[in-house]
Amino acid sequence: MIKLGVLISGSGTNLQAIVDATQKGALSARVELVVSSKPDVFGLDRAKAAGIPTLALCKEDYVDPLTADAAIARALVEAEVDYVVLAGYMRMVREPLLTAFPNRIVNIHPALLPSFVGAQGIEDAFAYGVKVTGVTVHFVNEDYDKGPIIAQRAVVIDEADNLESLEEKIHAVEHVLYPEVLQLLAEGRVSIANNTTCIGNTNR
Ligand code: GRF
Repeated sequence: MIKLGVLISGSGTNLQAIVDATQKGALSARVELVVSSKPDVFGLDRAKAAGIPTLALCKEDYVDPLTADAAIARALVEAEVDYVVLAGYMRMVREPLLTAFPNRIVNIHPALLPSFVGAQGIEDAFAYGVKVTGVTVHFVNEDYDKGPIIAQRAVVIDEADNLESLEEKIHAVEHVLYPEVLQLLAEGRVSIANNTTCIGNTNR
């Protein structure tokens, strides 16, 4: 059983998928703390409904981003989390968090990295006209969107798709893939070497 801290900035559908997976027993983890970069997002309501402690920051807290990340890191350390899970967190993760959780921060990106980095991964892939896009879960390091990739899943864009239907397909894949990857972490099956990951068999 691993302990998770989940960082959000919005509706928190990935947070919900993670919490649901823990409740169903599909994910051997417990969400100990939800941190939001915004005070009024629905993801915070989801956390409260699940009985998970929350920490909400606001724009003013990020005037000095290093101080904000130091406060977040302190709260996550206090909650004794093993992994920090970015789930729609719209802020850069900086040195205080990276140092407190080296190779212990993961992010989900709604495109197949290294393509379509940044905040508009779904829109950018659709506008480019690629025929296959997808979802990436990766470790977070100081190189934005460039940490070691843990898992990817493809999503085909067919002729009937518009941006809205593509968003739905991507989110549906995210909600399956993120809990699966966290379960790999819970089983200790993910190792990193030379900026790439290896998914091995557990010897436990
Ligand atoms: C997801 O598409 C995720 O890939 C991206 O932000 C979105 C978060 O959605 N990083 P939600 O808040 O989990 O609903």
